[in-house]
Amino acid sequence: MKTVPDHLAIILDGNGRWAKRRGLPRLMGHRAGLRKLEEMVRLVKRQGIRYFSVYAFSTENWNRPKMEVDGLMSLFRYYIRHKVDAIKAEGGRIRFAGRRENIPADLLEMMRWAEERTAGETTIDFILCLNYGGRAEVLDAVNALLESGHRGPVTEADLRRFFYLPDVPDPDLIVRTSGELRLSNFWLWEAAYSEFYFTDIHWPDFDEAALRTALEDYAGRERRYGGLKS
Ligand code: IPE
Ligand code: IPE
Ligand code: MG
Repeated sequence: MKTVPDHLAIILDGNGRWAKRRGLPRLMGHRAGLRKLEEMVRLVKRQGIRYFSVYAFSTENWNRPKMEVDGLMSLFRYYIRHKVDAIKAEGGRIRFAGRRENIPADLLEMMRWAEERTAGETTIDFILCLNYGGRAEVLDAVNALLESGHRGPVTEADLRRFFYLPDVPDPDLIVRTSGELRLSNFWLWEAAYSEFYFTDIHWPDFDEAALRTALEDYAGRERRYGGLKS
């Protein structure tokens, strides 16, 4: 039996609480969170995981104070500009999932640049979910399907063709840090049969040991997909 997830997804939560606990501004928490991400791509790759997606900014996160949103966008700019080559060197292909509207034009341009620059890499797909919402993804797919002139009943495969990353397999394991027990609009459709793992650790404190613990827990799960025990 395959015990390592093919697609690991992480909801990067708790940057704000991490900062608060240290008496720092929230943005310092986000900065620490992005730094942690850099290290995690390497660790996840070393585990032999083929697809690694992270929830970095949701369609609802625009509701935060402008200063925090602007700060986050700048951190994404910085991260993309400075980390693409390191990820490429690891054999990482950078991809983005989410609505492209609303993202500042210069950041969008950098995202395209990062995707192009790493398009030939095949060791690990590193997927940044930015302005991502599961409901938005389904709606965007429905609208694109209608626009395509599709006639007749819609199958799962028809709809999936219009998802942000149709070729990426559904997440096998979804990890959420920082204690909240919810999906918050992440991979809604794709999470139908995902396994879940929750930890109280704030994202910037999530480390190799925490990753191993989550993966060990996953390895002990029995996935049945509605069928009977194998
Ligand atoms: C996760 O950390 C990062 C984003 C949602 C952008 P939070 O900012 O949600 O941190 P908490 O939940 O307030 O601690
Ligand atoms: C989910 O975290 C979104 C990301 C981690 C990007 P939030 O902190 O926004 O979620 P809620 O508000 O606690 O549900
Ligand atoms: Mg949060």
